[in-house]
Amino acid sequence: MRDVAIVGVSQTKFGELWEKSFRDLVVEAGIDAIRDANMNGEDIDAMYIGNMTGGLFVGQEHIGSLIAEHSGLTPIPATRVEAACASGGLALRQAIMAVASGYYDRVMAAGVEKMTDVVDATPAIAAAADREWEAQQGVTFPSLYAMMAKRHMYEYGTTREQIAGFAVLGHKNGALNPKAQFQREISVDAVLNSTKVASPLNILDCSPVSDGAAAIIVCPADEAHKYTDTPIYIRASTQASATISLHNRKSLTTIPSTIFAAKKAYDMANLTPKDMDMAEVHDCFSINGLIAIEDLGFFEKGKGGQAIEDGLIERDGDIAVNPSGGLKARGHPLGATGIAQAAEITWQLRQEAGKRQVSDATSGITLNIGGTGGTAAIHILSVDRK
Ligand code: COA
Repeated sequence: MRDVAIVGVSQTKFGELWEKSFRDLVVEAGIDAIRDANMNGEDIDAMYIGNMTGGLFVGQEHIGSLIAEHSGLTPIPATRVEAACASGGLALRQAIMAVASGYYDRVMAAGVEKMTDVVDATPAIAAAADREWEAQQGVTFPSLYAMMAKRHMYEYGTTREQIAGFAVLGHKNGALNPKAQFQREISVDAVLNSTKVASPLNILDCSPVSDGAAAIIVCPADEAHKYTDTPIYIRASTQASATISLHNRKSLTTIPSTIFAAKKAYDMANLTPKDMDMAEVHDCFSINGLIAIEDLGFFEKGKGGQAIEDGLIERDGDIAVNPSGGLKARGHPLGATGIAQAAEITWQLRQEAGKRQVSDATSGITLNIGGTGGTAAIHILSVDRK
């Protein structure tokens, strides 16, 4: 197996982007990533595109071919990858494995979703839950995560304010990110007094409905200096599954696919949670950010709420969590999120993150989750500062 490095990254602005079509978004991200890698289109050997549900949001399937054509990259192989909100993380993983195996040399991993073209995004998003046992009974993702929040509060005494604190952190960091959907700060009071969505979660606990795309170029680590002065090395790429439906889980306060993928990732990288300087975690709802910082081993189970309250996950805290603003403030165009998370860690490690720069970071971890954790994808990235 060959070591793999990231040599190019890009992200479109996330938000309600009426003036841009599905294909415009992903082509823009792809071209920017190729430029960032100092490559030309003809250098790319293959591409993997994360997309959750183009069929339901914009009526478009056969996305690999569409993107290859509109980015001018035919006839290279172009493959769509789908695992709900973890589609982007898995597309990146496919690209990494293709290079590691020696099958291809320079591969693009992209992710895209255009969610705002439908009047109500909720039924399309609910297709990522268990159709028969959850979605058809009227259960939605806000309500599934609301149950997890209630159980966390019951088992560990986590307060409503601590959960809201995760959304406040996202907006604080997002306010410094020019590509974020929401570039404004919010308060705990604002979260607690915002419109009720599924008790105890309010609208300001939720990631928004978003349009956007992101792209990454990977190549063999020993060739990376041909394309960039600052390669970002892939130290681990792991994936795990858990039950798609929540009722079949032993616990509602932990996500077993995260635990499994994280253990594999730390073993693969020969690193521990304490070695991580920052993390981009999947806070589709504020409670999921809180659960993620426990499941990734940054804090003991049940202590995530206190860590948020104590400021331990701020940019200058013990570990900088979601310096991009996370799904809450950067936005969550489902298929693009896993790619955008790794792009953010790359900018941070290259020290190109502008006002939201985390100082002295040399390693970071991403956690991209599909549904309520039916799929989890984790990447650990590091930079060589000599
Ligand atoms: N955070 C902050 N502000 C939000 C927001 C969010 N999550 N969602 C909407 N808003 C704002 C809008 O910008 C708009 O502001 P404006 O009036 O100043 O323009 C206002 O709230 C109303 O927006 P609207 O689009 O009518 O909200 P909505 O009620 O249709 O949607 C949610 C709100 C929470 C239902 C929707 O954001 C949602 O479904 N989020 C979860 C997405 C999801 O499930 N992703 C997958 C996770 S597994």
